[in-house]
Amino acid sequence: MSSVFIFDAYGTLFDVHAAIARHKVQVGPDADLVSAIWRTKQLEYSWTLTLSGHYTDFWVLTQRALDFALASVPSVDKSLKPTLLDAYFKLDAFPDARTALKALKAKGRKIGILSNGSPSMLKAAVEAAAIGDELDATLSVDVLKMFKPRPEVYRLVTDRFRCSPDEVTFVSSNRWDVMAGIRAGFRGIWVNRSNMPDEYQDFPPAKVLKELSTLSEID
Ligand code: LAC
Repeated sequence: MSSVFIFDAYGTLFDVHAAIARHKVQVGPDADLVSAIWRTKQLEYSWTLTLSGHYTDFWVLTQRALDFALASVPSVDKSLKPTLLDAYFKLDAFPDARTALKALKAKGRKIGILSNGSPSMLKAAVEAAAIGDELDATLSVDVLKMFKPRPEVYRLVTDRFRCSPDEVTFVSSNRWDVMAGIRAGFRGIWVNRSNMPDEYQDFPPAKVLKELSTLSEID
């Protein structure tokens, strides 16, 4: 039985496409494209900078990624930038997130977030989603000044909960993040909401879920 359940934040508990979705009409017909470029560039910057040995916090990278997305898609009104950033800062949680966390808590599990997000971003998103009461810890990579999937990041969990890796279930919608969690010795659960094909076949998840609602049935 796994006693500690750790969640990725962006894409897993918080819907990264909700910021654009909230302002879809103003953003216009290329809304989905802008949102996809925004997310892709945000992650790319975190990986390339970490590989180069440099760190810039995730909120700054999120802003730069939006600048790139807006510059790439000229149909979108650039003056929406502050509105979109504000929406990203207070992202919506997926509808099943709070219920899933509550059900795990009721079963006595320890629950935490492990995220690339800066501490202030995570605090704002946790408050906006009203999930603070369910969380035992919100761990940001910021203390290490390096992003996932560096192995040091995943060790923040075992250090914080004073447990061994095999006591940890790691839940992420990012398949590359699940891979790194499994490499760290965790049980990996992949939340595949959008029916993506599998990747990283050397590190298969213990379970693939379509959404978070059935998570508490897992021992
Ligand atoms: C996070 C990014 C990877 O929350 O979504 O860590």
